Amino acid sequence: MTVTTEQPDPGIVRWTPPGTGETATSVYDGTFREPGGGMTEFLLVYKFGLAEINTKVTILAEELAHKGRGNPIEHVLPRLKTPASISAKARRIDCPLTFEDLRSRIRDIAGIRIVCSFVSDVYTVAEMLTRQPDVHLVVTKDYIAEPKENGYRSLHLIVEIPVFLSDRVVPVPVEVQLRTVAMDFWASLEHKIYYKYDPDIPPALRDELVAAAEDAARLDQRMERLHREIHGPRR
Ligand code: GTP
Ligand code: MG
Repeated sequence: MTVTTEQPDPGIVRWTPPGTGETATSVYDGTFREPGGGMTEFLLVYKFGLAEINTKVTILAEELAHKGRGNPIEHVLPRLKTPASISAKARRIDCPLTFEDLRSRIRDIAGIRIVCSFVSDVYTVAEMLTRQPDVHLVVTKDYIAEPKENGYRSLHLIVEIPVFLSDRVVPVPVEVQLRTVAMDFWASLEHKIYYKYDPDIPPALRDELVAAAEDAARLDQRMERLHREIHGPRR
């Protein structure tokens, strides 16, 4: 499996200058340490959890293609958050820099984006994944039913998957983002614009982005209707 990381994993993260706020599991000595392991070990279970979910998605895609139902999955992008972006998010949400706090407060260290052909496929794939007995659905955020103010649409799930280590079983949270190709097209452009203007996107551009998201949603509806007319509903 290819897991993209936002940048190479340096293994150890340098956080803040040494000497502040040291506690038993704190990492304020300048490096990110806890007994028996560092950041690489901390991230390892997330990598395994991601591999588990990725395998499940691959199996669904291949099996559905084999059944001749047409593969509803266009592409899949697993990614692990880098230590740097874990650190940045922790600061943003005021999360203490301990593994325990990071583990409980940052639920998107492992993430997988599943880009589907049509809106109905998004829900079908989400349902197929979450009804598996070892996949525990923790949170659903349906930004398709209720798009964000900026126009963003996607179905977000936080799921927990058990990872079987040599001496214990660890439930690992994975953020699953499901969207259509059109939603993905919009989101990648919006992401670039957001970063270019952060945080002050000019109002006219903001309005046009919302309109573009609505155009994309209409295109999704039209393509799905066309697909139904040509092939009938997916069985
Ligand atoms: P984060 O702290 O950013 O993870 O957000 P959150 O915990 O409030 O979760 P949410 O479900 O709203 O967003 C999680 C992820 O969805 C983000 O990290 C992005 O990858 C994606 N996302 C959410 N909102 C937007 C948006 O407005 N534009 C784009 N391009 N992506 C978004
Ligand atoms: Mg995130």
